[in-house]
Amino acid sequence: MKTALTYDDVLLLPQYSDIKSRKEVDIGNDLDDKIHLDLPIISSPMDTVTESAMAKVMYELGGLGVVHRYNSIEEQVREIIEVPLAAAAVGVTENFKERARVLVSAGVDILCVDVAHGHHILVEQAIKTLKDLFGDTVHIMAGNVATKEAFDDLSDWGADSIRCNIGGGSICSTRIQTGHGLPGLQTIIDCSKSDGKAKIIADGGIKTSGDIVKALAAGADFVMLGSMLAGTAESPGNIIKTESGILKQYRGMASKEAQMDWHGRTSSNEGVSTYIDFKGSVTEVLGDLRKGIASGLSYSGARNLAEFREKAIFVRQTPSGLQESKTHILF
Ligand code: XMP
Repeated sequence: MKTALTYDDVLLLPQYSDIKSRKEVDIGNDLDDKIHLDLPIISSPMDTVTESAMAKVMYELGGLGVVHRYNSIEEQVREIIEVPLAAAAVGVTENFKERARVLVSAGVDILCVDVAHGHHILVEQAIKTLKDLFGDTVHIMAGNVATKEAFDDLSDWGADSIRCNIGGGSICSTRIQTGHGLPGLQTIIDCSKSDGKAKIIADGGIKTSGDIVKALAAGADFVMLGSMLAGTAESPGNIIKTESGILKQYRGMASKEAQMDWHGRTSSNEGVSTYIDFKGSVTEVLGDLRKGIASGLSYSGARNLAEFREKAIFVRQTPSGLQESKTHILF
């Protein structure tokens, strides 16, 4: 049986560097031939992460926000209409074709086929349908997948970028509920061995800028974040005031609460709903992440993501190594 690693199991070996300032480091990447992101961060299509306020800031700061699909077509159009270069999620059943057509007419140029288990016949049909409808005028993001075989297939079906990781997100309970999944970093390592031309999006389970750096070193072109961007002024969701401070809602889209709100019934509950500390503006969060990523590349002596991927050397760490890696003065 193979060993599958995740972010906390590894570290990157510091290497000789002639980089004198983080400003010399370019962390941008191409999503496709036409779309370049200065910041390799995409906000997740979740109803407590991305609507217009988040998508606008993501755009302004060089990243990308994918507006969620848990709403009517009209509501989703209202959320994307003010965002230049907008991205929006669609499903694979019911009105997804109509939703996609309306979104594209309203200016969307990136559609995300947003399904928990992307290696699936309905996803194959949806990607092919969207490619038939829009050709190469619309970027098709799809997922989620856990294996190289799935990545190969989605890439062959026409996906331009693929969300990789099943059940690794902070609010996911898919692995508990179904026993299926693959640790997040291993998913990226495996998918990066594909010859498929789709871009790799490391999605879920990313807790720090250090995890982002590890995902990029392992072969991810971009990361998708939920919890790190939730709880901000720009994320949708209820706010509550408690004695210990202000909290904001963050929930999995397969949680009982989200399913009841959007469908009025639940199928398999594969996520949880919670409240997290309010973090203030996402601009500050993204500013810190940008600095952390650039600093990460400089520790490997790399000036851009391609160079970084070539140079990066992973080592495994033991549980005591992990303990030492975390701030531990208080323990
Ligand atoms: P993070 O760790 O960034 O993860 O909070 C966000 C990612 O988690 C996925 N997602 C879910 N996965 N059940 C799941 O198993 C859910 O209810 C659920 N909701 C979101 C999704 O890939 C997201 O980007």
